[in-house]
Amino acid sequence: MRVLPVLCVMGLLSTAALAAPMTQDSGAPVGDNENSKTAGPDGPVLLEDFHLIEKLARFDRERIPERVVHARGTGAQGVFVSSEDFSRYTKASLFAQPGKATPVFVRFSTVMGYRGSAEAARDPRGFAVKFYTDQGNWDVVGINEPIFFIRDAIKFPDFVHANKPSAITNIQDPNLAFDFFSRTPESTHMLTYLYSDLIGMPASYREMDGFGVHAFRLVNAKGQQIFAKFHWRSVQGLKGMTLEQQHAADPNYATRDLYNNIREAHFPKWDLYVQLLTAEQIAQLPYDGFDDTKTWDNVPEVKFGTMTLNKVPDNYFQYTEQSAFAPGVMVPGIEPSPDKMLQGRLFAYADTQRYRIGTNYQELPVNRPLVKVANNNQDGSMSSAPRVGEVNYEPSTAKQVGAVTPQPSFRLSEYPVSGVAQQTAIAKTDDFSQAGELWRSYSKQDQSNLVKNLASDLDQVRDHGVKARQVSYFYKADRDYGTRLAEATHLDVDEVAALAAKEVSH
Ligand code: HEM
Repeated sequence: MRVLPVLCVMGLLSTAALAAPMTQDSGAPVGDNENSKTAGPDGPVLLEDFHLIEKLARFDRERIPERVVHARGTGAQGVFVSSEDFSRYTKASLFAQPGKATPVFVRFSTVMGYRGSAEAARDPRGFAVKFYTDQGNWDVVGINEPIFFIRDAIKFPDFVHANKPSAITNIQDPNLAFDFFSRTPESTHMLTYLYSDLIGMPASYREMDGFGVHAFRLVNAKGQQIFAKFHWRSVQGLKGMTLEQQHAADPNYATRDLYNNIREAHFPKWDLYVQLLTAEQIAQLPYDGFDDTKTWDNVPEVKFGTMTLNKVPDNYFQYTEQSAFAPGVMVPGIEPSPDKMLQGRLFAYADTQRYRIGTNYQELPVNRPLVKVANNNQDGSMSSAPRVGEVNYEPSTAKQVGAVTPQPSFRLSEYPVSGVAQQTAIAKTDDFSQAGELWRSYSKQDQSNLVKNLASDLDQVRDHGVKARQVSYFYKADRDYGTRLAEATHLDVDEVAALAAKEVSH
């Protein structure tokens, strides 16, 4: 029942036209909100002015920690509509009928900057979707590139440290970023996306695609399994920005564009496409199909539905800031694949959210599922969901209200595993082929702009060895790509070619 006042407050926020009688947090009326209570006209302020103390104390606590990555973001609400019955692939109920509508909350973001940082950053764009399905929430926590920089979660903190502002200057520094990337050859493919105009610098959040990046395991009602990659294709089409346009951009350009379009009822839409491969097909790929630095090339995309964003949330903090997306938040019929990055992500998000927002973050309106939550997780800071009965354990013979029981038909899927416990790199690393193919797929103009964009950061690297080694990776991907970058960054092409001839180690 303690949830009701929260909803009332949110209702007031959305209909702010009438000034409501002011109260303290306790509900008691406030008589004066401009003059503190003092001992006489010139005397000190009295501690007994509870309203003053409460007001200052609440103000002092307005901020929660910003996200450790993806701190700058923009949320919007909308709906997803399934295009068909996909129960042959997955028992996920949101895909069970054509025309089935599921509400969504989406948060777009940049990665490395702080909460108030400029949106036109050379950064992937976060594309996180929370589906409020009738079987609980499902989060697809993706980005606007189909792949990622690294393939093992154990490298993620280092990747972020090297790319976030420096531990000394608090300014982002290409010397640190490329020091890391020049020892991380698997990032070559992602850097070839990141420094392009079209994908690397979206002209708006509306004009970019989104990707779940990892493979996920789909399971149907018979227990049959197939692996899937989720791709959001922008109905608005793709549009990028040049380096000059990036430098001239309004720091809030992406939020303004999204919110103005939604407010003018130009609702942005994305079609959800899915690539599907069986475990046997994945085993036959020339690269590792669970490596998130690879795209599944020449695998057709099946359209699963369309998402429309149609509402700017009533309050930034309560929705966008307190939203909590996690790759582990799944519904029956969608399960993890063995992708080593995904496996690490399954732990990290809920862990940071218990710290960033608080233990009971899933009770907040933006995170709360539409279905009733029934389990024996209890108490903790800010617990507010109503609980009844005293049987807070399971199994139990009790049948009274509040007792819960698992539903065996929703047991997780079974699949074979084998092998020796070990710490080894994947067998088929193949760090450069797809980066080269991507380079060759670009137009002449896009190639020139990619070289210019990359050189603008790479040329700031002071350590010659780091710079040469980094450029040798692009040379390995494609000789023309590496040669042009070497020239643009004042390197000797022969030196780069000699480095590129060497094997890289993992
Ligand atoms: C946010 C960790 C890889 C996309 C976050 C957050 C953490 C995190 C701790 C902050 C969450 C919060 O405070 O609510 C990791 C780790 C990774 C990883 C440990 C690798 C092992 C990735 C990858 C993608 C991705 C590969 C894209 C496919 C996002 C997005 C957000 C995010 C979109 C922002 C979600 C939002 O809008 O709230 N990540 N991440 N991350 N991550 Fe990752």
